[in-house]
Amino acid sequence: MMDYNTKEIVKCGSATIVNHLPEIGLLKVVSEIVDGLNSSPKRISCKYFYDTEGSNLFTEITRLAEYYPTRTENAILRELPLEKLIGSFDIDIIELGSGDHSKITLILERFSEAQLQHMRYIPVDISFSTLETSVRKLAERFPSLAVEGIVADYYHQMHLVPGERKKLFCFLGSTIGNLDRAEAMNFVRNISDIMRPGDSFLIGFDRIKDTSMLESAYNDQTGLTARFNKNILRVVNRLILSDFDPDDFVHRAFYNPRHRRIEMHVEAKKSLRVCCPYMKQPFELQKGETIHTENSHKFDECDIHALGEHAGLAVNRIFSDKKEWFSLAYFRKTN
Ligand code: AVJ
Repeated sequence: MMDYNTKEIVKCGSATIVNHLPEIGLLKVVSEIVDGLNSSPKRISCKYFYDTEGSNLFTEITRLAEYYPTRTENAILRELPLEKLIGSFDIDIIELGSGDHSKITLILERFSEAQLQHMRYIPVDISFSTLETSVRKLAERFPSLAVEGIVADYYHQMHLVPGERKKLFCFLGSTIGNLDRAEAMNFVRNISDIMRPGDSFLIGFDRIKDTSMLESAYNDQTGLTARFNKNILRVVNRLILSDFDPDDFVHRAFYNPRHRRIEMHVEAKKSLRVCCPYMKQPFELQKGETIHTENSHKFDECDIHALGEHAGLAVNRIFSDKKEWFSLAYFRKTN
């Protein structure tokens, strides 16, 4: 569920969740989606994948044989020299796009209850239901840990992060790949601007590799990624009251070497019209025309260093698997 209507604070034991999406407002969301559909090429922001259904489908994707990133990143996370990296346990861990909490669990389970007692975990995600489940499960599993969930669009609402304590920001799963290169630069810089010397930022990067391997990760045999991709049309229907029929579309995912990214599109099987009360005329698509739903940029070490440099962050270390399919970069704010 993505709830742009009801301002809400939910308590789960000692843990809390605050929904900040209403501050964005449904009107802004509607105009963003309508503008995207009316632009050329037609597009829908990939943040709208993640209603309850989409979040669950993504969790299933992470378990696919073809989808190597999650498995590879998790193996690196398990080996990370965390104590050495963070130094003091008196920290806030802020995870952007926390999703199903599987990634952070690999970090938290490395600490003792006595250490967790000093820490606070602040997950930020756009899906209320996913965040609620995570917060409940984490509060149960790690009773000493303070958990404060924030439902927000982290690209636009980073001012919500509390200021006082030393911080470790986490942006895992190569979610950074969803942003355009320039957006990624700005985003990391914006986070850097709210960091203080000694704070750190852990970012997961999917690496550039063999095209066929990249393409099969986004074109799985079971068709799960296709369902995930087409589900965005259901989410859009709910938000802008349109009447897209997902069955009128096929899933397309391919590597774009110029931009070094996987692109996902939904392609119209036939010419069609879609009605939406927020559009003056029905929205038209020709047979074979696509709506661009996601970019998943891939990175090399140069890109990682360039991001750090642009944001004023020092690359402390880059941790990778042996085959260099995936990297976790640990950045530190120095001044
Ligand atoms: C969640 C953005 C990391 O880009 O690989 C998976 C989303 N899309 N399969 C990615 C996704 C299609 C995923 N991220």
